[in-house]
Amino acid sequence: MSIHIEAKPGEIADFVLLPGDPLRAKFIAENLLENAVCYTQVRGMLGFTGTYKGKRVSVQGTGMGLPSHLIYVNELINDYGAKTLVRIGTCGGMRDDVKVRDVVMAMSASTDSSIISRAVNGMSYAPTASFDLLLKAAEGAKKLGIAVKAGNILSSDIFYHDIEITDPYAVWRKFGVLAVEMETAGLYMQSSRFNVQALSLLTVSDHLITGEHCSPSERQTAFMDMVRVALSLLD
Ligand code: HPA
Repeated sequence: MSIHIEAKPGEIADFVLLPGDPLRAKFIAENLLENAVCYTQVRGMLGFTGTYKGKRVSVQGTGMGLPSHLIYVNELINDYGAKTLVRIGTCGGMRDDVKVRDVVMAMSASTDSSIISRAVNGMSYAPTASFDLLLKAAEGAKKLGIAVKAGNILSSDIFYHDIEITDPYAVWRKFGVLAVEMETAGLYMQSSRFNVQALSLLTVSDHLITGEHCSPSERQTAFMDMVRVALSLLD
């Protein structure tokens, strides 16, 4: 048992899916995995291990934002020996060519969080996906007929910006950033630090320019497409 996860040694697989929402973890365990067992309920941040096409998979909720996400990532790697971490989350689209319901693969993650610069003595670090996973996810998506967009995303500490700031994302858009979420830069930094593989897959749940949102059923379909791409990494 680690501080925030009550699994016993060996109860968590090497391959872990990381939704922010613990109820998504439960949904995946109940609908996509075989013989799934819940190994933790600490703080309601549910985690399950089961199998998919005979391969062992865990799915662990991580909460929102780099601090919460990194608590789970650190414990999964350092206390449970996780080797492959795949975030499956949602993001806000920032550009015209990124549409609601699209699946985005984060090649790299820019950030406004001080967590990354603090780790490198105030300098600038470039959190980057594992190339092997990125390539395999692109191939898996192609086989499944699911279109994906790949590029740089923003991992932000701020969901609610000050109301006087008209377009807080303009500066990021100018540099080609596709979408905003709140975790990936931390995942990529720590997975590199501890030499494990990581990839972040995101569905666009809302759009910051058009104001469009997914309906709950569209959100579910787009989310499941992304999970199928994530599970294709096990093939
Ligand atoms: N901001 C930050 N994270 C998000 C958003 C957003 O607009 N949408 C989905 N995740």
